[in-house]
Amino acid sequence: MTEAACRVDRLRLFAFRNYAAETIELGPGLNVIAGRNAQGKTNLLEAVATAALTRSPRAATAADVISWGQAAAHIEAAIHRPAAPVTIDLRLHRSDGSERVGRSISLDGRPRPARSVLGLCPVVLFWPEDLLVVKGAPEARRRLCDVVLAQLEPRTAAEMVRFRRVLEQRNALLRRVRAGEASAAPLAGFTEELVRAGGWVRAARARLVAALQPLAAEGLDVLSDGSERLGLAYAVDGESGETAATDPEAASEALAQTLRRRAGDELARGATLAGPHRDDVVITLDGRPARAAASQGQQRSIVLAWKLAEVRHVAAATGTTPVLLLDDVLSELDGERRRRLLDELGAGRGTQALLTTSAAGGLDLERHGEVRHMSVEAGRVSVTGETPAALAGAAGA
Ligand SMILES: Nc1ncnc2c1ncn2[C@@H]1O[C@H](COP(=O)(O)OP(=O)(O)OP(=O)(O)O)[C@@H](O)[C@H]1O
Ligand SMILES: [Mg+2]
Repeated sequence: MTEAACRVDRLRLFAFRNYAAETIELGPGLNVIAGRNAQGKTNLLEAVATAALTRSPRAATAADVISWGQAAAHIEAAIHRPAAPVTIDLRLHRSDGSERVGRSISLDGRPRPARSVLGLCPVVLFWPEDLLVVKGAPEARRRLCDVVLAQLEPRTAAEMVRFRRVLEQRNALLRRVRAGEASAAPLAGFTEELVRAGGWVRAARARLVAALQPLAAEGLDVLSDGSERLGLAYAVDGESGETAATDPEAASEALAQTLRRRAGDELARGATLAGPHRDDVVITLDGRPARAAASQGQQRSIVLAWKLAEVRHVAAATGTTPVLLLDDVLSELDGERRRRLLDELGAGRGTQALLTTSAAGGLDLERHGEVRHMSVEAGRVSVTGETPAALAGAAGA
């Protein structure tokens, strides 16, 4: 890869999940994090993702990541980047007596808004839940897109927040109108804002899916035996027939038209019936919907191909190779497939990767550049071994 890599050199955690206070020095290549179940492997990857994304990609509420009984969680991540190193400092604190969580962020000690962190250190997540995404609900597929977009496009990150807020307000109003508690007059204002933000988000997702499509198809070729053709299409309102416009204004106009057409239904149902919250990514294998047709193994290959595409797309778009967070994804692959995947990812060869495993024997990865082995027990991390790059090179291909 020609892009410069970004990596996390050091992570300090305080009252984050089951980490009371811990400092973790990560290697620049592969970091294999081994440990029995429930020791903190996933939590460690989550901490890296939370620092990079400014929120946890897996917690249902922000408060979930704060250690039980504690008032605040604190993550400090020392990032090595091509431009200049930077330290991200993220604190989440419970407000007195409520479930609300405040967030404060600083970069190199200076308070900054969340948006200035997004994209500083791009990450690509491989969560075990992702493996269910092919047959899962559309929401999971939309989320895959949004995690990428938030890191690549600051404007899209802001429009997603705006869209969520106006959707909630508009739905609340529609419910009150239906119940006869409010007039429909203020609806037009909400609709206008919804259409503007919604069109932006839709177009951004449609462009992303169009960019991922050829890369993912290529990825599936490499990972499987190359016999199936993978298709990805961003579908408006889940109807696979209608693809979304990739231009925000056209997407907004189309959404406005749909909402005008469905105005009566919306008042009857008390909900917003069209918009990016109802969209889907339609995945096909040889033109057939993968949702209905893909086998277990095919589903897994599709998701890995998608992730491979994400890595390539993020690297090309930012000029920075992302940090890879693979939670328990490798243990189910045989040695050959594991090697092929890591090779394709460039993992350990200029790309930092954190891999977790609960397999007793760990993962056989000695051919993959510099490998640091760590073990986690009850929120304490220790380095158990290291293969320096020179040695790995000699042992390798
Ligand atoms: N807010 C919290 N405060 C304290 N502990 C927590 C909190 N949230 C989760 N935990 C605990 O953290 C422990 C480790 O969780 P984690 O998901 O990282 O395990 P893991 O090592 O990945 O295990 P597995 O191999 O089963 O995936 C769990 O036992 C969980 O109960
Ligand atoms: Mg886990």
